[in-house]
Amino acid sequence: MFSKDIYIARRNELREKTGNGVILLLGNEEVGMNYKDNVYTFRQDSTFLYYFGLDKPGLAAVIDNEKGSDIVFGDNPSMDDVVWTGTQILIHDQAARCGISDVQPLSVLNTYIKESAEKGLKIHYLLPYRYRQYLFLSGLFGKSVEEVKKGISIELTKNIVDQRLIKGDEEIAELDKAVSITSKMHLRAMEYARPGMKEQHVMAEIYRIALEEGPGVSFSPIVSIRGEVLHNHHYNNTLKEGQLLLVDAGAESGMHYAGDMTRTFPVSGTFTGKQSDVYQIVLNAQNAAIEALKPGIPYKEVHLLASNTIVDGLKTIGIMKGDTQEAVSAGAHALFFPHGLGHMMGLDVHDMENFGEKYVGYDESTDKSEQFGLNFLRLAKKLVPGYVLTIEPGIYFIPPLIEKWKNEKKSADFINFSKLDEYLDFGGIRIEENFMITSSGSRLLGTPVAKEIAEVEEIRAGA
Ligand code: GLY
Ligand code: MN
Ligand code: MN
Repeated sequence: MFSKDIYIARRNELREKTGNGVILLLGNEEVGMNYKDNVYTFRQDSTFLYYFGLDKPGLAAVIDNEKGSDIVFGDNPSMDDVVWTGTQILIHDQAARCGISDVQPLSVLNTYIKESAEKGLKIHYLLPYRYRQYLFLSGLFGKSVEEVKKGISIELTKNIVDQRLIKGDEEIAELDKAVSITSKMHLRAMEYARPGMKEQHVMAEIYRIALEEGPGVSFSPIVSIRGEVLHNHHYNNTLKEGQLLLVDAGAESGMHYAGDMTRTFPVSGTFTGKQSDVYQIVLNAQNAAIEALKPGIPYKEVHLLASNTIVDGLKTIGIMKGDTQEAVSAGAHALFFPHGLGHMMGLDVHDMENFGEKYVGYDESTDKSEQFGLNFLRLAKKLVPGYVLTIEPGIYFIPPLIEKWKNEKKSADFINFSKLDEYLDFGGIRIEENFMITSSGSRLLGTPVAKEIAEVEEIRAGA
């Protein structure tokens, strides 16, 4: 945990911004995989971690703006709990670590909230993302799940987003740790993968590093020779000479901040000519985007800049044609780059996505596009010092999508469909790194990992 002063200051800032009513924040519970006691790895709610730092199930908290008090609701372990899960830190001692002395049993929470509501106080709560939270709030307010959804506090959501988006120095230090563990995972994958192995062997090796150095991974890794399947969570293909392996993986730091990087490298010692051409285009797009990062620039503009670079590059190898700007405006590049350039990162790998992109990546001056490709852009608004985000362009050859566009003659003015027949078994390439926005530009988080073609081939040669 950080020092208790940090949690006190964060709560005071939220209290001042929100001004009225009672803020109810729920911690997460254990979740059974296939029966109650066979649980998934426990992951505390990130907002709860941000304001209280308490990394245990069975907790909730209130920031009471009327009384000016903060209360943790939770119970001391029973003897049965001690027998099964060991001696636990007493609830008062846990709460003291985040600067709270007012601790009440969990059973009192319902009454506390009901009495506050009866006094006419607004109960601010956030959009749930687990069914248990819905059930709890539904029971508490006597409302349907739909009504619970409608009753969330937009004001609280916006205030928390504003606060969590600007990372403090202590958070940047944690993010640097998370990304440095992530860097080790990627370097190790590059050193370790060999023809004849299965994807799951590389997966196991990088997972080991995440578990040796921290609590584990920040999301389910993608380790795939089918890089064109954007979120591919299958690991049983055998690596073969001539293929590309795409590894998109990240670790959590001890305090659950995330890293999120991607490297794509040849299973053989070197890239083929075709692979290095496409790889270099992705790298050029990433470099153009990184170069553009600075306060004030809308991230959507950075996304479009990367898209332009991709079109320019694909034109040089005869896959695209026509005017670059027009092709990007028409969304023609999205056949190859169908996702957004990146997203915010913090305690969540897609930071605060539980609140909705509308509040995190967009604002009054930015609207979500409905155009294919741009509709997956999670972040569009102007950048501000203290933001932490990813830059992750990619080029993918997705046979069913190519076939569809070809049949529909979609963007035929910009795409040489006949040339694409040579790329149907290519797969995909993505390169991803994490940056913080500084007062003058940006800074790469974590330890740099080889990404130039020559650097990657040098590591693969020694593998
Ligand atoms: N790991 C998912 C992503 O890069 O957003
Ligand atoms: Mn990623
Ligand atoms: Mn990412």
